[in-house]
Amino acid sequence: MIYNSIIDTIGNTPVVRLNKVTKGIKGTVLAKVEYFNPGNSTKDRMAVKMIDDAERAGTLKPGGTIIEGTSGNTGMGLALVAVARGYKCIFTMADKQSQEKINILKSVGAEVVVCPTNVEPDDPRSYYSVARKLNREIPNSIYPNQYDNLSNTAAHYETTGPEIWKQTDGKITHYAATVGTGGSMCGTAKFLKEKNPKLVTVGIDTYGSVFKKYKETGIFDKNEIYPYLTEGFGEDILPKNVNFDVIDTFIKVTDKDGAIGARRLAREEGLFVGWSSGSALHGALEYARDHLKENDVMVILLPDHGTRYLNKVYNDQWMKDHGFLERQFATAKDIVASRNGKDSLHTVSVTSKLGDAIRIMNREGVDQVPVVEGADFVGSIVSANLLEKMISDPQLKDKNVGDVMDKPMLFVALDSTLDVLSSLLNRDNKALLVRDETHKVHIITQHDILKAITS
Ligand SMILES: Cc1ncc(COP(=O)(O)O)c(C=O)c1O
Repeated sequence: MIYNSIIDTIGNTPVVRLNKVTKGIKGTVLAKVEYFNPGNSTKDRMAVKMIDDAERAGTLKPGGTIIEGTSGNTGMGLALVAVARGYKCIFTMADKQSQEKINILKSVGAEVVVCPTNVEPDDPRSYYSVARKLNREIPNSIYPNQYDNLSNTAAHYETTGPEIWKQTDGKITHYAATVGTGGSMCGTAKFLKEKNPKLVTVGIDTYGSVFKKYKETGIFDKNEIYPYLTEGFGEDILPKNVNFDVIDTFIKVTDKDGAIGARRLAREEGLFVGWSSGSALHGALEYARDHLKENDVMVILLPDHGTRYLNKVYNDQWMKDHGFLERQFATAKDIVASRNGKDSLHTVSVTSKLGDAIRIMNREGVDQVPVVEGADFVGSIVSANLLEKMISDPQLKDKNVGDVMDKPMLFVALDSTLDVLSSLLNRDNKALLVRDETHKVHIITQHDILKAITS
């Protein structure tokens, strides 16, 4: 099939089963993977709908300029429509947004005006106010205003909702999505609830945003508002696209839990998604753990792609700097596990001749072996130490191992971390021993530590 323009490829994104991150949860959990849209986010859907509706209403005329306040994804959708249909784009953006998002918008021909994040929405410097001002000053321009423009909700009512209903054969019982402008949650939720009034919707909110408290108390509490890092959802305003009647409950997610959730989706499911997708996952699973039953089917909307967060969520140093990632040391257990049961410990008996011990070490390619007496580990033979001794006494090879051996290797706990293991390995201790859960003994050398650090 040939599409007439890239705009015609928007929508019909896949629904994918989550297999690993859902461990311990009853029921089926699925993801609606919105990065398959050409602008790599769910916002393509409402961008084209807002422009279609503006053209139909006659407010957007040929050669016109589209001005919008956007965290990036709506801008991308609008820019693609603008390229396809010959409009200009100017976007206002809060300065907390990632540089990648700004660069991406510029790449598709848009102009970007960066505004301060930490000012009131009605402050003349806010990205909402700057967008309005530009709209007043530039002739033949429109300000779609994704927050209050109900074409946003309509796009998801007309596309996302019906797609999910069809893709799950009407079996969906729970729908979870982040709430920013509210379009992707509320348009989809309205459609699905019309199909199945018992369907439950879970809105994902962030700490620093007003939604959850407003839903629960009807109070718009300014004290709930504070700067947060997650991009794209949670608000300090009540957009018209947020229809609280179709959101049954809200769950708040921290910046850290969202970031870790995104990394889990990438590593455990192969879904390289954005930060808010991780928040959606974390919040949805929190709800699912307590409420989902065996036959329930939950769909989580994952809004965008991971490339836009490469310098943040997917950058280990950035994660550590923000306290989101504790340094995780591997342990002796990990080293043993990495051998997949393929290691066998070579030992020599205290009564065997040193020459035989050397032959075993040569054959097996090892530099040290533990010496055993029955079931006990009583000493060790270390090739580096032997060399000196044998040069001064060539007859040594005919002596018993027990007469020339070095001290026994140290036994360490199975959960000893790499930093502990490496501090124990030195001139005097060339190798360490560890017993696994089945009491089998394994050897750990400096080489094993280096391999674990660099793998
Ligand atoms: C990355 C990301 N996540 C979530 C959302 C929230 O979606 P909605 O505006 O439909 O509520 C947006 C919206 O801009 C977004 O860009």
